[in-house]
Amino acid sequence: MRSREVRLIARPEGAPRPADFELAEVDLPNPKPGQLLVRNEWLSLDPHQRRRMLDLADGSMPPFALGAVPAGRAVGEVIASEVPGFAVGDRILNHAGWREVALIDTGRDRAPERLDSNPGTPIQWYLGPLGASALTAYVGLFDVAEMRPDDVVYVSAAAGAVGGLAVQIAKVTGHTVIGSAGSTAKADFIRDELGADAAFSYRDGPVAELLGRSAPVGIDLYFDNVGGEHLEAALGALRTGGRVALCGAISNYNADGPAGAPSNLFAAVTKGLTLRGFMVAMYEKRTEDFRRQMREWLAAGKVVYPEAIFDGIEGVAPGFIAMLAGDTVGKALVRLDGRDLRTSTNYG
Ligand SMILES: NC(=O)c1ccc[n+]([C@@H]2O[C@H](COP(=O)([O-])OP(=O)(O)OC[C@H]3O[C@@H](n4cnc5c(N)ncnc54)[C@H](OP(=O)(O)O)[C@@H]3O)[C@@H](O)[C@H]2O)c1
Repeated sequence: MRSREVRLIARPEGAPRPADFELAEVDLPNPKPGQLLVRNEWLSLDPHQRRRMLDLADGSMPPFALGAVPAGRAVGEVIASEVPGFAVGDRILNHAGWREVALIDTGRDRAPERLDSNPGTPIQWYLGPLGASALTAYVGLFDVAEMRPDDVVYVSAAAGAVGGLAVQIAKVTGHTVIGSAGSTAKADFIRDELGADAAFSYRDGPVAELLGRSAPVGIDLYFDNVGGEHLEAALGALRTGGRVALCGAISNYNADGPAGAPSNLFAAVTKGLTLRGFMVAMYEKRTEDFRRQMREWLAAGKVVYPEAIFDGIEGVAPGFIAMLAGDTVGKALVRLDGRDLRTSTNYG
């Protein structure tokens, strides 16, 4: 059977360009024992994929190989299975990246997860409010930064997938929340739609000044998606005993070298701050607890979940570029309509 996939063919210099990617057609074999074929329905577009397009050799994340499909999360339907426990028609989450149809080898690849096919749950939610974006926000606040009842919480990239959920989780649990993002329209969205107490556009001036105005009494918890100037501003605003969840540093992902340390890191000494980094994969054991809680909040309308949808495998590169450039709100996704692929084969 034939499928299409998006490959990285050049390491981006600065912001990625369409020429850094190629759309290729491939023949897929019938699955052998231990393998299954999944027709992807939704692909996730994630900043960490940009980070892995760098070849920094700094030991932080293995770089993607040139000519290969960047790994990433996707959800779809099993169309052929030689894996006990997985049947045709099962909906699964896999990590095979930007492909219409993926051949998953359970002996080699990260294990796929069978998803609950409750008709009330859109399957792409397993990439967003029931998936890694929301688990990141949830464990970042509760487990990593150990959020306390009276904390004033600051979230950067707060109109995005992780940040937007972090704002809402902190609000729904009774906290004062400040958000920032890259435009006045996004700041309005963070305040009016996500419920933050204050929000600002980081393009309106030095972040330290803008944060100081939004949080005149200071902050206790910083959920850092951005790094750089944002982290420095937060270190200045944090009160004694404050905590930082180091989730991402997107302001550095287009740079061709490692980021410098914050110039005011000594504030961590004088104020007794805790800065703790994490990867969501380290907290997968929290998935069931967090999904139970998120389902309640979603059903009660306490959490909203905007999506920025790009259509077709051709939408991968433009969607990825747009997400990194700040042109999306909420979770950036590619929607695939692969019905023709499925019906043109004997599978399923
Ligand atoms: N630790 C983990 O396991 C984990 C897991 C998932 C995600 N993350 C991290 O979480 C962060 C958010 O990821 P996401 O999936 O939710 O993406 P997202 O926020 O939906 O999209 C990325 C956003 O970052 C903002 N941005 C881009 N360049 C920027 C810059 N130079 N300065 C400030 N903001 C910039 C843009 O919005 P603006 O318009 O606001 O600029 C852009 O839309 C990323 O740093 C990502 O690496 C970490």
